[in-house]
Amino acid sequence: METLVIVLLAYLFGSIPAGAWVARTYGVDIQKVGSGNTGATNILRTLGWGPALVVAFFDIFKGGIALLIGRLFGLEGVQLGLVAVSAVLGHNYSLFLRFKGGKGVATSMGTIIVLDPLVGLMILPIGVCVIWLTRYVSAGSMVGAMSAVIIALALGRPLWEIATLVLLALLIFWTHRDNYRRLQAGTERRFGEKVQPEA
Ligand code: G3P
Repeated sequence: METLVIVLLAYLFGSIPAGAWVARTYGVDIQKVGSGNTGATNILRTLGWGPALVVAFFDIFKGGIALLIGRLFGLEGVQLGLVAVSAVLGHNYSLFLRFKGGKGVATSMGTIIVLDPLVGLMILPIGVCVIWLTRYVSAGSMVGAMSAVIIALALGRPLWEIATLVLLALLIFWTHRDNYRRLQAGTERRFGEKVQPEA
């Protein structure tokens, strides 16, 4: 029962749509601009670095805090994995945005940092390098998600953790399906490309 409450709480935390709410304070409906994503990448191209950093921080934080609460209440193994997936599902299918939302990258990162700090620290430079080389945040996100699984396997992490990372990676691939199509078509927006809020 306690596990269920914490898993639901994680969904609720994940649901807090920082991007949509921050954009609203600028009079912008972020779901109607750029990629329509509520995450920091779309906030950056629409509103600039300040708001993007606030959103990135909050989206990472809410994933991390959900896991920390789980730990505080003694959850471990599969239960902790469920908390992570639930927080990311909340972000992607937010209660406050009619079950729409972001792509789950920052929130996944927040959960992974608490779940397995070493894996979190290792995937960060990988994702950043891919973004730096390609100028595509989506490519960095997908490669980062995949690396988490590979690194956890290489480090001999327990099955529940690998299964959690596989689920997080699958969610990231699913939410990036349009990005993937755009990457193939050569129409994906580059990192830092600007979009007019009213566009
Ligand atoms: O974290 C989301 C990023 O990978 C892609 O965002 O707005 O370009 O679809 P966006």
